Amino acid sequence: MQYSQKVLDHFMKPHNIGKLEDPDAAATEGSPACGDQISIFLKIHPETHIIEDIKFQSYGCASNIATGSIITDMAMGKTIEEAKDITWKGAAEELDGLPAVKMHCSVLAVDTLKKAIKKYEIEHGLAEEEAFTKDTIIEELKKVIYPGVGEDIITLKMVKYVGFENGVAIVDVEIPKFDTHRDNVAEEIKEHLEVFKEIKEVKITL
Ligand code: FES
Repeated sequence: MQYSQKVLDHFMKPHNIGKLEDPDAAATEGSPACGDQISIFLKIHPETHIIEDIKFQSYGCASNIATGSIITDMAMGKTIEEAKDITWKGAAEELDGLPAVKMHCSVLAVDTLKKAIKKYEIEHGLAEEEAFTKDTIIEELKKVIYPGVGEDIITLKMVKYVGFENGVAIVDVEIPKFDTHRDNVAEEIKEHLEVFKEIKEVKITL
């Protein structure tokens, strides 16, 4: 697998690695695609909402460690509002690119940072718990990466229909029968959606 020098540098000597004692916010997320995990810990100034310290622990691959390292660098010293603008694509660009099959590792790291910030906002009355709707499903599908090109299935317009009724999530995906990533994508959609307590069943049509 071809990694950029920057990915290798961050993998070999990751920045901001470890755990914060008594963090103001923390989140741990696992990747449905590979089963790996990452935790992110934040110290946030109560008035300015500036991220004063940030650390991460990764139980993932080189791409995940490198993304954890770069996004913690990117988030350090920013306000939580600014840090929310960090995207997995931006992180991958900062690393001079990631292999297409490794983009989901970057999604996992950035998603964990966003979850930690969201938790902080909810706990401190800065945001409210969002109601679960069809849009929640669409947002989640933006984290499902088609490994063939390293882009999400919503951006690639592979998702033709999304429905949510009586606890059943319906997702229609257009993907050729001969496509070797077909089962993989379906499995990942399922794993992403099944974690929501509001969803009782996931129906995928390919
Ligand atoms: Fe699991 Fe990269 S995080 S393969």
